[in-house]
Amino acid sequence: MRVSLLGTGGIGGTLRELLAAGRVAGCVTGAAVGSRFPAGAVVEELTGSGDVVVEAAGGAAVRAYGAQVLAAGRDLVVCSAGALADDAVHAELDAAALAGGARWTVPPGAIGGLDLLAAAIRADGAADVTLTTVKTPGALGVPDVGVVFAGTAREAALRFPKTANVAVTLGLATTGIDRVRVVVTADPAARRTRHEITARTAVGEYRFALLNDTLPAGRTSAITVWSVVRALEELAARGRTPISLKKGAPS
Ligand SMILES: NC(=O)c1ccc[n+]([C@@H]2O[C@H](COP(=O)([O-])OP(=O)(O)OC[C@H]3O[C@@H](n4cnc5c(N)ncnc54)[C@H](O)[C@@H]3O)[C@@H](O)[C@H]2O)c1
Repeated sequence: MRVSLLGTGGIGGTLRELLAAGRVAGCVTGAAVGSRFPAGAVVEELTGSGDVVVEAAGGAAVRAYGAQVLAAGRDLVVCSAGALADDAVHAELDAAALAGGARWTVPPGAIGGLDLLAAAIRADGAADVTLTTVKTPGALGVPDVGVVFAGTAREAALRFPKTANVAVTLGLATTGIDRVRVVVTADPAARRTRHEITARTAVGEYRFALLNDTLPAGRTSAITVWSVVRALEELAARGRTPISLKKGAPS
């Protein structure tokens, strides 16, 4: 499966190295598009040599290119999950996927336990799900310390568009982005990004603590890259038809 990368920063750049080193089973490198690529040619570049596109470029890129990639029949892996707090973006991706016969997915990224929580909320759709995130003030872009935000996952995505990906991912996987509660704390002493998920449901009570190291070159949790690797390996194992074998596809 050929993997094209939209964004070549912390996540995209690391993925590019892993793909080139053969560390993503069943996958090889397609195109890699950075922010200096001419906007009008991005979709053609990505879809011309990729069976699947990984978006690792930010919410604006999801809006600009996500639907076009899907409409062209290429699967899409969305890292900037915060963009999906906008229902219109979500609906647009769904419609384009249907039209293009493609699929889009949001990998768990920097959090986990979603399989269990998604199962539990099938038993109890009214479950209480809370995410508590602790980062340094610098990583959050705030001057304050202590609790800097409390609200829903959707509100968190508006307040912290760059760091609320996990809140939206948790909301989408469980009771919804308007029901999942989010508390964000700024702690100057935080050496790792900490996420704690608690869920009180009719079938049990669950608590996950996730302490993430960041990529050497930035503030992105390193595990996110490996979450994308796992998502790609699953897509590849499901056996997508290589685009070169599709009728009318560029060779
Ligand atoms: N789901 C998660 O758990 C999770 C975790 C960490 C980061 N993220 C998100 O993933 C995305 C990528 O993270 P990162 O750490 O690699 O960010 P980054 O800032 O290191 O890299 C982003 C790259 O995208 C490029 N870019 C921006 N707009 C572009 C455009 N229109 N076309 C092409 N390239 C463009 C930038 O030049 C940059 O190289 C961010 O939106 C981030 O918030 C999600």
